[in-house]
Amino acid sequence: MRPRFLALAGPLRGSVYLLADGQEVSLCPEAGITFAAESASSAGASCLVRGVAGEYTLTASANTTLAHVNGAAATNRGLRHGDVVRVGGAEWLFLTEKMPAGSHLAWSETLCQDCGACQAVCPTGSLRLRRPAETRHELLGNSAAMQRVNEFISRVAPTDSTVLILGESGTGKELAARAIHRNSRRAEQPFVAINCAALPPSLAESELFGHEKGAFTGALAQKKGKLEVAAGGTVFLDEIGELDLGSQSKLLRVLQERELERVGATRPIPVEFRLIAATNQNLEQALGAGRFRQDLYYRLNVVSVRMPALRERREDIPLLAACFMARYSVKCGRRSLALSNQARECLVTHDWPGNVRELENAIERAVVLGSSELVLPEDLPESILERAPPDQALCSRYHGAVAEAKRQVILQALEQAGGSYKDAAGLLGIHPNNLHRLISKLGLRPALKKARP
Ligand SMILES: Nc1ncnc2c1ncn2[C@@H]1O[C@H](COP(=O)(O)OP(=O)(O)O)[C@@H](O)[C@H]1O
Ligand SMILES: [Mg+2]
Repeated sequence: MRPRFLALAGPLRGSVYLLADGQEVSLCPEAGITFAAESASSAGASCLVRGVAGEYTLTASANTTLAHVNGAAATNRGLRHGDVVRVGGAEWLFLTEKMPAGSHLAWSETLCQDCGACQAVCPTGSLRLRRPAETRHELLGNSAAMQRVNEFISRVAPTDSTVLILGESGTGKELAARAIHRNSRRAEQPFVAINCAALPPSLAESELFGHEKGAFTGALAQKKGKLEVAAGGTVFLDEIGELDLGSQSKLLRVLQERELERVGATRPIPVEFRLIAATNQNLEQALGAGRFRQDLYYRLNVVSVRMPALRERREDIPLLAACFMARYSVKCGRRSLALSNQARECLVTHDWPGNVRELENAIERAVVLGSSELVLPEDLPESILERAPPDQALCSRYHGAVAEAKRQVILQALEQAGGSYKDAAGLLGIHPNNLHRLISKLGLRPALKKARP
């Protein structure tokens, strides 16, 4: 069997990385496993593993404070089948042989959530790791902005307060709502998500509150509404800004009275749930325009959090990309991939109007369509490579200055090469394909077309 690492703990938990003979890889808690050559630019501590002729050696780099093998601190030692390597908050199981049928990794406190990776390691499917005691969630990111969100979640989750989650589309509002629910005393009760944008006013009442048999044409049987189904659990009202005014006042009544009436019913039913609402709208503007009830707004805005846009936490992009690469390579049955330096730069400088959702889709596409072990810029969607001309107001000064310096260097090389792309690429020491890509990405095409006689 080809030697491999199975991530037991850390952001890439559940993913499998296959090693090639002679390959040197870097284990890094934030970015997972990458080619050693690629790791120079990835942040955080790392340690190197090199395999030659079936012998594997782990070397902790000078700045790595904590590398442990099977619980003992390690700086330089051989690795054997079944060893568990821990670096920072991440843990990997090193395997060179198939797990015998029925084996159970009882010594590990971590879990495999039936991720599919286990089956890859253990064809009998008998490899089952245990769930760690602490409750976890799927919100990834180590940036200061995400740390603030995580702190907010851990403080607010155990309370029963109503929470309002603000933020652009794709920033993880629903994920945050689920995290609050999973870390609350209601975790074993239902989490009911309702997308208010998909509720036409004519259906909203019956969807939210339910109806009695015969309440209206088509009401062939009694039906419980979503708020009743959520009994004891959490109701997540997504896109609350889209709820029509009529439904807003009925919802407010339920929140005040803690009881609801199904459509066509004569008696109210007591209800008990925690409410979390989310919106990408500016609700204060909606109040001003009379599209949102002020009393409901105050009821919802007890504690609120704003999910940061991805462009406000660019330092999280390599970690998110690595996690999505691991997730989709497992799903697509592909080998683990690494991000090329150029692709990483494209991802980190893109503005991501669709936030994490857009990044996730871009990585899935790269995993499905890419053909090498490295994700290259050409595997990414055009929209990321060919950015609109940079908007100076939005671009940070640093990225703006770097892009401008690149433009100047390229234009000079082209001038020196008399307009020949091939020679200019030669002068710059890059492949002509890379030069073409950079010219598109930096928005130089129009300038070059004009300059041509
Ligand atoms: N911090 C994050 N870590 C990992 N995945 C994320 C994160 N934020 C968003 N996602 C992913 O992006 C997609 C959109 O997230 P979602 O919670 O539906 O966003 P929103 O409700 O703000 O539009 C989902 O697939 C989600 O798993
Ligand atoms: Mg959403």
